[in-house]
Amino acid sequence: MRNRVASFLLVLVSAFILAARPSGAQSKEPAKPFDLIQWNGGKFIYGVDYYPEHWNETQWESDAKMMQAASINFVRLAEFAWVKMEPVEGKFDFAWLDRALKVLNAHGIKAVLGTPTGSPPAWLYAKYPDIAAMDENGVRYRYGSRRNYCLHSPNFIAATQRIVTAMAEHYRNHPGVLGWQIDNELGDPLCYDASCRAAFQKWCRAKYKTLAALNKAWGTIFWGHTYLAWSEIPLPWNTLGKAHNPSLALDHRRSHSAATHDYLKLQVDILRKIAPTQAITHNDMGMYDGVDYSVLNKPLDFVAWDNYPMFGEDYSNSLGVGLAHDLMRGSKNNQNFMVMEQQGGLPGWNIFWGRQAAPGLYRAWAYQGVAHGADGICYFRWRTSRYGTEQYWQGVLDQDSYANARYQIVSQTGKELAKLTELLHGSKVVAPVALLVSPDSRWAFQIQPLVKDFNYNRQLGSYYGAFRRAGVNVDVVFPQGDLSGYKIIVAPSLFVVDKPLVEKLAAFVKNGGTLILSYRSGVKDENNVVTDQTLPGPLAELAGIEIHDFDPQTNQQQEVAGPDGVGRPARVWFDILTPTTAETVLSYTKGYYAGKVAMSGNRFGKGRVYYVGTELAAEAYLEGAKLEAQGAGIPLGPELPEGVEMAVREKPGKKILFLLNYTEKAQKVTLDRGYQNALTGETEPAEVQLPAFDVKILTTP
Ligand code: GLA
Repeated sequence: MRNRVASFLLVLVSAFILAARPSGAQSKEPAKPFDLIQWNGGKFIYGVDYYPEHWNETQWESDAKMMQAASINFVRLAEFAWVKMEPVEGKFDFAWLDRALKVLNAHGIKAVLGTPTGSPPAWLYAKYPDIAAMDENGVRYRYGSRRNYCLHSPNFIAATQRIVTAMAEHYRNHPGVLGWQIDNELGDPLCYDASCRAAFQKWCRAKYKTLAALNKAWGTIFWGHTYLAWSEIPLPWNTLGKAHNPSLALDHRRSHSAATHDYLKLQVDILRKIAPTQAITHNDMGMYDGVDYSVLNKPLDFVAWDNYPMFGEDYSNSLGVGLAHDLMRGSKNNQNFMVMEQQGGLPGWNIFWGRQAAPGLYRAWAYQGVAHGADGICYFRWRTSRYGTEQYWQGVLDQDSYANARYQIVSQTGKELAKLTELLHGSKVVAPVALLVSPDSRWAFQIQPLVKDFNYNRQLGSYYGAFRRAGVNVDVVFPQGDLSGYKIIVAPSLFVVDKPLVEKLAAFVKNGGTLILSYRSGVKDENNVVTDQTLPGPLAELAGIEIHDFDPQTNQQQEVAGPDGVGRPARVWFDILTPTTAETVLSYTKGYYAGKVAMSGNRFGKGRVYYVGTELAAEAYLEGAKLEAQGAGIPLGPELPEGVEMAVREKPGKKILFLLNYTEKAQKVTLDRGYQNALTGETEPAEVQLPAFDVKILTTP
């Protein structure tokens, strides 16, 4: 077998020498992307989430002064203040908010107003109990907490229309109001009441037209679950354990995502009609997978999201947060975005959830967002609450308003960003590599997680992290996106595929692109039904392999090796590949399939397809990413020490390099040449010194 195995390195490298490459044009933007800096009057958006209604009015003026002193020019207000704006059904009071805006505006601070539907008033629940969502046991959520309404309750829809209309009419011409945030972190919960069940049945009917088509698509003959009336279709109750139909469950996720979009759109339509000059966004949640952000964000002017890197103990690994930024950017054609909630202190509710971060990290995390395409950073929240659930969720200030270390670093960062605005304005992230994120596959894996230790996000993170550690920018694309400008597409565990996606991937490879697939790709069709083709199903020809056997082993380590004989650890899942037209890259070394193929590389058209049948360790991914990038003519970044990140924005004639040190040690990075320090104006030598928790922003002069 060994003799047949081409060298791991040789196969990878020669693939790229032989394959012609696409030209590298990157543009996937709609004609005119939204310009956040222009929207904010030429200023980089620098803000805090502020709750004037939580504080004595006499404090507003000193708050605004302190904000201004920290270069804050933006606030998000009111997203939980429904009861203050509509204390009695149909009676509105905006006087307090007008006064707060007046104080803030006088200090050069403009606002985005949150529509407050994420936290409806108690009186609304009392009067219309059906607005509360119902859990899967048939119990309605009781009043308290937030975000527990039913998306299909007619009473809730009517109440939404009323408050959004009133706000829009009151603020449409307000010079201090830049725009709107719809609701707050849309997505949960799934509601199981009769109106949601009827809505799901309606959604199914619109999709399948006939019950015969639905029954066929879902394979309802299994256990005799065939439906003879639309009204018989159930929701996928979790109380049935994992025994519900996976096709029904996937459609249910899709319909919930679509309903969330429709609810957002309902509000967008009101605002567009009444306040057409104001911009609209929403605060997404990064890697959250309850909704398909590439659809949810369509009606918005720009993407905003809530970035909390401080969970757990190790703050030096920034790759997960980088991926979330890039996914958010990718969810709307790679337009620049803003962070609507940037961590401003320790997280916690009834307990603290992280450990305190060195002040410099708050600056580094803000710059990380900028490096990944953010044109606005807004900290959650201005001051820690004295009341309620989030007494332990630190704002920039603590309850005593003392100008603490977080305030100092936020001020420093604000001054720097004001200085950098001209340089940053009009620049964006350009990436030669794209990570394909499939919402359908994510949902299908939620429904059937495969094996105990499988984690789709970890698969995404492994490949993403490898290219990022190699100093290569990565975009995230969704299945409907444009793949044509990339040199490499990585589609880890592309479980659910439909014909258009297969054709798109094939065209990409035929034209010279490189596609990297990993285990459990091509297993399911768009109905979440297992293919009857030999695996990897419709991707088999592209990959040049067949899979006739696999071995899921959550607890066992396998090992794979190339012709160099060096064993590399492998785990979680082992697809045993039979190459048809592909060549062997790695083989298993243990068990009954020792010597059988674990990773293959196949020439297809002018391009190449790799299939990685298992999960490797970070170093192997890094090794592969470097070779792939080099082979594709993508320049590698400098060697980066652990805990140091580099990301690049560019605009015509300028490259802006961000070097970010998340570690408590001074670090050193050797670049290809000296660059100008964008903050000091001085030339930095090629060997850049990065003090602990520090950031350097470098540019071509
Ligand atoms: C979310 C919400 C905020 C706040 C923070 C901290 O991101 O959008 O309102 O609750 O979490 O808990």
